[in-house]
Amino acid sequence: MRWTHSTLNWPFAARLYRRMLYDGRSTEVVDIVLRFLMGVVIGILLVPVGVLMWFRIGHVPVAVADPPLPDERAFTSAPLHARIDRETANPPMQPDEANLVAGAHIYGDQCAVCHGYYGKPSAIARNMFPDAPALWEKHPNSDVVGVSDDPPGETYWKVSNGIRLSGMPSFKPILSETEMWQVSLLLANADKPLPPDALSILRGNAQGAPAPAVPASAAPSGLTGRQ
Ligand code: HEC
Repeated sequence: MRWTHSTLNWPFAARLYRRMLYDGRSTEVVDIVLRFLMGVVIGILLVPVGVLMWFRIGHVPVAVADPPLPDERAFTSAPLHARIDRETANPPMQPDEANLVAGAHIYGDQCAVCHGYYGKPSAIARNMFPDAPALWEKHPNSDVVGVSDDPPGETYWKVSNGIRLSGMPSFKPILSETEMWQVSLLLANADKPLPPDALSILRGNAQGAPAPAVPASAAPSGLTGRQ
């Protein structure tokens, strides 16, 4: 059927399509457009099908020792840092002796198992993916110790919220805000001289100094946890 004036009441696109198709003048153009559109549709469908097949029969890295995906670290750390930048708070206390010693007690109780002590790396840190960084180790060719180059507010965010898809737990339900700030201030000062009582705990000396008396509002809640 040829295009005639009787088809004028068709919607514009249909008229154009029929005209190009049947006039015999622009068949190749229509062909190219149709093939292109089909390619787009098949391409869109192939992505999820390919991903599902990779999950079923591919060697997806799921074990700790499996190699990382390309740029995995960049993909996970960019959104984490964007979020922390938006939500970082300033410490409500000073890194004085009482807070640093209290922070060391909390560190020994809650963190050392994964992050290790001074000169005593954690046994499980390297067997996690991502691994738990040694927070009392000096960085090569720099004076930074652990996360002493991060603002305490950044460490507080990580301690409070944890880091998803990693072994880093959220301590919000376990420690009080005061305790989370104390341990964050301790880590921010890891490259500075620390009170001897704090050092003795951080060297893995379980006997350490007795826990300092803290106001009731800041009393450790770690032993009871969330009910
Ligand atoms: C069960 C193991 C585990 C425990 C317990 C744990 N962490 Fe972590 N932590 C990790 C892992 C694993 C990472 C690495 C996460 C990543 O790279 O995304 C991490 C990351 C961190 C980081 C970020 C390090 C960096 O280089 O940016 C800080 C700070 C931190 N933890 C502090 C603490 C503190 C403070 C405690 C105790 C209150 C604690 N962690 C307890 C496993 C743990």
